[in-house]
Amino acid sequence: MTSLPTSPAQAPGPGTGDVIVDWFATAARDLPWRRPRVDAWAVLVSEVMLQQTPVARVEPVWRDWLARWPTPSSLAAATPAEVIRAWGKLGYPRRALRLRDAATAIAERHGDVVPASVPELEALPGIGTYTARAVACFGYGQRQPVVDTNVRRVVARLVHGRAEGGNARASDLADIAALTPEDDDRAVRFSVAIMELGALVCVAGTPRCGACPVRDRCAWRLAGSPAHAGPARRVQKFAGTDRQVRGRLLDVLRAAHEPVDAAALEPAWDDAVQRSRCLDSLLTDGLVEQTEDGLFRLPA
Ligand code: ADE
Repeated sequence: MTSLPTSPAQAPGPGTGDVIVDWFATAARDLPWRRPRVDAWAVLVSEVMLQQTPVARVEPVWRDWLARWPTPSSLAAATPAEVIRAWGKLGYPRRALRLRDAATAIAERHGDVVPASVPELEALPGIGTYTARAVACFGYGQRQPVVDTNVRRVVARLVHGRAEGGNARASDLADIAALTPEDDDRAVRFSVAIMELGALVCVAGTPRCGACPVRDRCAWRLAGSPAHAGPARRVQKFAGTDRQVRGRLLDVLRAAHEPVDAAALEPAWDDAVQRSRCLDSLLTDGLVEQTEDGLFRLPA
């Protein structure tokens, strides 16, 4: 059986993308990775750091990172321990190692130049579709749909009249394409503008509709702003999770300049079972290594 092509999304009226682009010109945050002359490497670093991490925490780390490693080959030459230290408290530290793996591939396979095509970007270790499209669009000025959680939520409300975004859907790209302005420069700005609308105005929970440039054409508002129909959004807790314990263990190892024994890790977390499980997972992830005499350190 052949599957039918998905019908194009019903956009909430012509010009909606242009209205969002014009709003962005007046309302956008001045973020350093959005400035002119920021190269694709700096954009790639920003996008990896911004996954699951707020802008305010990323900014200082991003600046220090690029001052120290301004090219992929310079990062590829760093040790894992240096990279994990420099990642600081951004969280999800496996991203730091994956970024170094991507840098190594760019240095070896692409002459130290971040590739510009989405398939080549996606072929880099640890780079998914979102990041590949974001780099092609924000780093190289290509017309690309860039769909993150914020964008999915805007589309869910504006186009489909649903209260919240939910998981990625096959129709996401068609929905975005239907909203995107025809002019290529405006299309590029639209990709970041709709992301910003979701981050600042069309936020999860209670959106700031009074500040929204497209509130009069929003399917969700036109439907009377119905409550979210699905299961409640899970709010990720942090306290007491393995993620917190792993962070504490890494804090000890970041601060130590010599390998430490297991006793030195005890103050990081009282529960010995959880501590040991988290240490094992850090070893498995390559974020910690054990020396021949059984001590622990960041990977050399
Ligand atoms: N600008 C470009 N990409 C961004 C992102 N992922 N988060 C915030 N601002 C951005």
